[in-house]
Amino acid sequence: MFLRNAWYVAAWDREITRALKSLTILDERIVFYRTTTGQVVALEDACPHRKLPLSMGRLQDDRLECGYHGLTFDATGACVRIPCSDYIPKGARVHSYPVVSRYGLVWIWMGQPELADPAKIVEVAHWGEPGWGTNSGDAMTVDAHYLLVTDNLLDPSHVAWVHRGSFGDAACESEPVTVEATGHSIIASRWMRGVEVAPFYAPFVKFQGPCDRRQYYEVRFPSHAIIRAIIVPAGSAGPDAEAHPQVFVMDSYNFMTPVDADQTRYYWFQIRNFAPEDTRVSEQMTDSVRSIFDEDRVILKAVHQGFKHKRTPNIDIAIDSAPLRFRRRLNQLIAAEQAAQARDPAHAASPATT
Ligand SMILES: [Fe+2]
Repeated sequence: MFLRNAWYVAAWDREITRALKSLTILDERIVFYRTTTGQVVALEDACPHRKLPLSMGRLQDDRLECGYHGLTFDATGACVRIPCSDYIPKGARVHSYPVVSRYGLVWIWMGQPELADPAKIVEVAHWGEPGWGTNSGDAMTVDAHYLLVTDNLLDPSHVAWVHRGSFGDAACESEPVTVEATGHSIIASRWMRGVEVAPFYAPFVKFQGPCDRRQYYEVRFPSHAIIRAIIVPAGSAGPDAEAHPQVFVMDSYNFMTPVDADQTRYYWFQIRNFAPEDTRVSEQMTDSVRSIFDEDRVILKAVHQGFKHKRTPNIDIAIDSAPLRFRRRLNQLIAAEQAAQARDPAHAASPATT
């Protein structure tokens, strides 16, 4: 089950070119291309005639020609040509998805097009601000249901076991996590006081000795995580920590896009409050994060299989509070969306009915 009236990341902006690109998002096949004026187009990837993927056709200027019988579609999804026929039937169109390029990513709206408001795209704090550096980030395919990924990203404790030696250490095992809900997200956070600087952060932190470390894990509905790390000299924890002259801040943005019920595309990058122009720092950070996220990828694939093949029911424990609240609220949002569509099927979000 997916929330349809939401923005998801479809691709890195640089991945959409004049070559047709077929992607599956929320179990829907979508063809992407860039027009001659640079606009990104996203259309249902199935000709309404015999359902051949339009991605097997070709671009004729900014129009897409089916590779079976030459039916041709414009960027709005309307059929503008049927060879050997003067008549274009009313149903000769494909769904056109609203898309927006922002933060180097292509965002796609999977629900009712008239509800697609770009202001609802996650805001990346400090983007392009002087003094803040951004790494190029990457994407990975996780063979797991996307809610297993959001579980992981609302669980600061897992770093003690999955990422011991990078993000985590023994101090991460015991400090309790505070959970709160906002109108659009669930937040799991904690301060760890008087701890060693964990190995991932050590090369970048400007002070010696023990630190106070904040783990702030926020996941916004449907599946966008903002993971903020704040590290200050021991004794400096608190609401004013970010004003400390030696503060280390790293915001990790993690955007999960369900491919289907068994696979997730995971786009990520980090913003930091130091070395804004230092490409060596950016590369080091990207490489380290990539290998750390690979540790999650292995675990989540195995967990997905574990759930698929479970013999006895799974249990939940105290640290599951934030993931469970997130799932409950998201399920409510999905149920409300589906109820609204059932009342007004003319506006159902599925491209089959638009
Ligand atoms: Fe992790």
